[in-house]
Amino acid sequence: MKVVSINSSPLGDKGHTAMILTPFLEGMKDAGAEVIHYLTKDLKINPCCGQFTCSIKNIDCIQKDDMNEIHPHLLEAEIWVFATPLYISGMSGPMKIFIDRMLIPWGDTYVVFKDGRSHHPMRKKHENGKVILVSSCAYWELENFDLLIEHMKEFCFHAERDFLGSILRPHSPIMKFMQDAKEKLEEIKNATYNAGKQVIENGKFKSETLKKVSQPLIPMENYVRKVE
Ligand SMILES: Cc1cc2nc3c(=O)[nH]c(=O)nc-3n(C[C@H](O)[C@H](O)[C@H](O)COP(=O)(O)O)c2cc1C
Repeated sequence: MKVVSINSSPLGDKGHTAMILTPFLEGMKDAGAEVIHYLTKDLKINPCCGQFTCSIKNIDCIQKDDMNEIHPHLLEAEIWVFATPLYISGMSGPMKIFIDRMLIPWGDTYVVFKDGRSHHPMRKKHENGKVILVSSCAYWELENFDLLIEHMKEFCFHAERDFLGSILRPHSPIMKFMQDAKEKLEEIKNATYNAGKQVIENGKFKSETLKKVSQPLIPMENYVRKVE
């Protein structure tokens, strides 16, 4: 099974998001997936120019940059893994630029109703296409990811792909700075690796595995200062 992973953290493979993405991709590979991994920080990808030439003329994007080489891999891949740090409750800027540059060239110009919603049908797509979100954030509670998850589901509706779920790591700064969290870190790494294996072998995650990935690292009161 072919997988394309995109990490949009400016810190690339050295960031907090990568601390969960790397073992997750390892698990996928060990379960037999062929994984192509991109870091947006190493790519030259311009924002969409908004002219709709691709869509109107049914051609590739008129811009010539690294997206031209990535497009064929994306179209072939059954699974897309979108990894992003949480930025102001949403995805990072480079991730938004990346997804804007994906869908418009693949959609038809006309609009249909699908499940009662306006939608450009995809003329180029994978019949079994799926999407997984991987994200880390600094705030304590998992609810901080809610808007990002909703946006990803919305993206999947328009991309005509199934949303398989999210690998989420809140209060991520502790992962690098708190030495006494080492044991838990190992547990999180193992759970993330297992999640990667599960999704390739069974097509889904076990909910207890996802809970382990997102578990609290220290007591909340040691991280959050209460304001009266
Ligand atoms: C511009 C910016 C905006 C951020 N916004 C949020 C936010 O809304 N909520 C949150 O919990 N963390 C926020 N963070 C913290 C990052 O999500 C967090 O540190 C993340 O783990 C960084 O991942 P990385 O090391 O892979 O880049 C923000 C960080 C930056 C730089």
